[in-house]
Amino acid sequence: MERSEAGAIRILTVVGARPNFMKAAPIIAAVNAHNESLVAGYAGQPEPQVETIRHILVHTGQHYDELMSGSFFNDLNLPKPDIHLGVGSGSHATQTAEIMKKFEEVLLGEKPDIVVVVGDVNSTLACALVTSKISFDSDGSRPVIAHVEAGLRSFDRSMPEEVNRILTDHVSDLLFVTEESGLQNLRNEGASPDKIHFVGNTMIDSLLHFKEKAEASTILEKLGFLGQGRNGEANSSTRYGLLTLHRASNVDNRDVFLNIMAGLEELATDCRIVFPVHPRTRRRITEFGFEFSLGKGTGKHKANEQGSGMIVTEPLGYLDFLCLMKHAALVVTDSGGIQEETTILGIPCVTVRENTERPVTVECGTNTIAGTKRDAIKNAIRRQLGGNRNHGVPKNWDGRAGERIIDILVRRHYEKTSFRSSLFPHTETLEGQYACR
Ligand code: UD1
Repeated sequence: MERSEAGAIRILTVVGARPNFMKAAPIIAAVNAHNESLVAGYAGQPEPQVETIRHILVHTGQHYDELMSGSFFNDLNLPKPDIHLGVGSGSHATQTAEIMKKFEEVLLGEKPDIVVVVGDVNSTLACALVTSKISFDSDGSRPVIAHVEAGLRSFDRSMPEEVNRILTDHVSDLLFVTEESGLQNLRNEGASPDKIHFVGNTMIDSLLHFKEKAEASTILEKLGFLGQGRNGEANSSTRYGLLTLHRASNVDNRDVFLNIMAGLEELATDCRIVFPVHPRTRRRITEFGFEFSLGKGTGKHKANEQGSGMIVTEPLGYLDFLCLMKHAALVVTDSGGIQEETTILGIPCVTVRENTERPVTVECGTNTIAGTKRDAIKNAIRRQLGGNRNHGVPKNWDGRAGERIIDILVRRHYEKTSFRSSLFPHTETLEGQYACR
């Protein structure tokens, strides 16, 4: 039975930068599952009051090229954005302001019931802020703002992402939390408990969903890692490390960048290090004249014949990177999401930052915060390589966060529009399981 879109719940999800895509994909999958369950569950029966969801995907265009954005839509089976704002790069103020101006027009045109923002990038804050001040009528009605990945705090306000996190949480109506520290941080900042829901981690939903598919990636072969075991054994995979660096605080400062590279010297003599280079980092490498020490050029070339040294590549797609992470001996990174992904994969991770907003990754035993000084990084790498791989799994990182979020959004929508709660026989379970009181 075709269900009408007339009374559909209108959910608009915003994506903008690379780490948003894998966080949004499970939410869109859960929307589709919700709509399919209505069609399957009620075919041939009187139509109930629960409506389908009309989903609108908005891409701000903060990241715009194939390597940083386009390939992720293919890998994650994301639908083409309904609306693309095409804002591109700029200073923080320019980028944020451009998104805000264009997103306001979108909101006024689409009038969604709910706006979902994910993560901590400039697009997240810009769209949450616009939504918090929009008014659709003389009563001042506006969409509910839902922040996915709420409550994370590095307590380092020099990070643009920390400012984005705090401000986004403070203007949001629903706060979907990934780990216990997020609950505590939100409570400490006085967030109302009925806004907070501990749903798990949508980035991990994506990882669990695509983990097997990533095995079909040919990246190990392309990098010359298959069938070239140190002892010449067939089909063995070569031991390698994986490196990502893109934080402004690490790569925009020549000395900090040099210190980090020096911290990797020992590892680079022991095994190959694959380094997919972010556009910001690439610019700095050229500017600082680091190409030579990185092994010249940035194509997909093999390292030296002793099986050591750096292999520099373009930014990689989701499935290729996931495959590389799964098989790495060790990951060195300044990313937030990679700290979480290595936690679930049980791969040792050395984080080259002074802090983390994701303390559960350290508590679970796979992540260590090394700072950015050469010797500290060397020691952390030695420790991580020598440690055992036993690790815990953070609570609710079970692949169902997207589903929980959509359940809560639908329930909340009907509560607000005063439909009978008997439409939601599972309401009590949801409260008990996910809400934080
Ligand atoms: C942004 C996010 C950061 C996230 C990271 C993931 C903010 C404040 N920062 O940082 O939290 O971890 O994305 O990548 O939102 N560029 C391209 N092609 C692109 C996109 C960017 O070449 O598709 C270049 C541009 O020259 C741009 C630079 O990379 O100036 C930085 O991009 P930007 O989005 O400003 O910040 P990121 O460092 O990527």
